[in-house]
This record gives sequence, structure tokens and C-alpha cells, in this order.
Amino acid sequence: MNAPHQIVICMGSSCFARGNRSHLALIETFLSDRGLHTSVAITGSHCEQQCAEGPNIRIDGRLYHHLDEGTLLDVLEAHFTRDTKE
Ligand code: FES
Repeated sequence: MNAPHQIVICMGSSCFARGNRSHLALIETFLSDRGLHTSVAITGSHCEQQCAEGPNIRIDGRLYHHLDEGTLLDVLEAHFTRDTKE
């Protein structure tokens, strides 16, 4: 699949335990609700070596830190709203 966007969720034990376990479902719902699910490839990564800054998720190359459900939704909204206007 050659999706124009990529989300990489850190599935290292620290990020997984601190929120990324549930963030996958949140991301999938966000994208599906907006018809974006075919435009974004979602993969997992091993530890990004930035556990103290986690949970970490990389979106189109930019690594976002300290994400919880609220901040993750804010990031997704800002990122994909901005991108869909280009
Ligand atoms: S587990 Fe995510 S940065 Fe280490």
C-alpha cells in the first residue's frame, strides 16, 4: 500500500503501557470517521529510545511526545486538517 501519510506508533514497553496500547484504536476511529483510513499507513515501531518523553507517535516523520487521548486527537486534527487543505 502506498499511502501518502504514515503514522508510526511506538510499541516499546514503556509507550505501550503508558497509552499507546489504546491509541491505535483511537487513531483508526479518527481516520475512519473522516474517510482518511486509506490515505494513512499505520505501523508500529520498537522503542524510539525516548521513553521519558513518551508515549511517542510519529506522524509523517515528526515525533510527537507525551500524548494522551486529548492531545493525540488535537495533533491528528491539526495535522490532517492542515494537510487536507494543501
Ligand atoms: S518505549 Fe517508546 S520510546 Fe521507548
